[in-house]
Amino acid sequence: MSKKTVLVSGGAGFIGSHVTVELSQAGYDVVIADNFSNCDMTCYDGVCQILGFKPALVEMDFCDKAAVADLFERYPIDAVIHFAAYKAVGESVADPLKYYRNNLASFVNLLEVAREKGCNVLFSSSATVYGEADSLPVTEQSPRKSATSPYGNTKQMCEDILRDSVAAYPSLKGIALRYFNPIGAHPSALIGELPRGVPNNLVPFITQTAIGKRECLSIFGNDYPTPDGTCLRDYIDIVDLARAHVCAVRRMLDGEMEEPYEIYNIGTGRPLSVLELVTTFEKVNNLKLNYKYAPRRDGDVVAIWADPSLALTKLGWKAERSTEETLASAWAWEKRLAEAAKMTE
Ligand code: UD1
Repeated sequence: MSKKTVLVSGGAGFIGSHVTVELSQAGYDVVIADNFSNCDMTCYDGVCQILGFKPALVEMDFCDKAAVADLFERYPIDAVIHFAAYKAVGESVADPLKYYRNNLASFVNLLEVAREKGCNVLFSSSATVYGEADSLPVTEQSPRKSATSPYGNTKQMCEDILRDSVAAYPSLKGIALRYFNPIGAHPSALIGELPRGVPNNLVPFITQTAIGKRECLSIFGNDYPTPDGTCLRDYIDIVDLARAHVCAVRRMLDGEMEEPYEIYNIGTGRPLSVLELVTTFEKVNNLKLNYKYAPRRDGDVVAIWADPSLALTKLGWKAERSTEETLASAWAWEKRLAEAAKMTE
């Protein structure tokens, strides 16, 4: 049987690069499309090193509908995973139109072409759609709360655009994966998270503090109603998360979907506090981290974690790597980046 081809938009980024590796190793042909607006070639080069070959790479912008149509003419695409979007919460508050234009227009363009081609679409959504949940853990049935940022709003809107489109067009099916907090790096340390400027997310801030790029980690709030006063999150290993995409693509391509639009939580089901994460990082990597408590950060929810049982039942997926392994991989990646930077000095 000929290999199936999966288009990965935003495939040169953090999540997209890990997904490209897992899909390729599972026997799919991957076409990466990226406009490099928020990443460079580092992860693509790492993907090539891990795989021992170069997956197809097209530099393009999904806001350009003609370019999207052209891409589908050039490659025999069977399914699409859509990552190409802006993702900084704070920036989205400062410049909402940038987020609405880019994140919505690119997705609509993609769906219009995918619909014509009868090609199924996997959308990268986020646990941010649940907001501050009334009860925990959240299931896919838990109500969505109104978004606290334009970024979060684009996730909700794209979910709705996908839901409405599959309801209207029989040629289209879709899956939304709601990621909890993706962290860590590939065990090879050849690909990982590469934030531009000061990191917004916790783990890159931790690793950059440990390596000496940042002076001190601020833990945002230690007076929350949680066991140690810091926020609770569900940190999901990036390779585990990437494997969930392989399971979802298989389900789409093997005609196993039971509904035209399916949603899955992708998390571990284990809540971890910010402080627990920091102390686990210190312990597993045998170092001391410079950190202090700081005021709460605007827009943070107190606690969120997944009930991931639907993904197990329907996708046959569950998280496997331990937090220790994940945090060791994040540190190995940061150290490798530092070595690479030294070599180019
Ligand atoms: C955010 C986004 C989420 C997105 C995710 C990507 C919202 C509300 N959140 O999640 O949609 O999918 O990033 O990874 O839209 N923290 C510190 N110090 C820091 C940084 C973070 O204490 O320097 C704390 C935060 O207060 C939070 C936890 O660490 O309690 C995790 O923060 P972060 O990594 O930014 O992820 P989220 O805000 O949960």
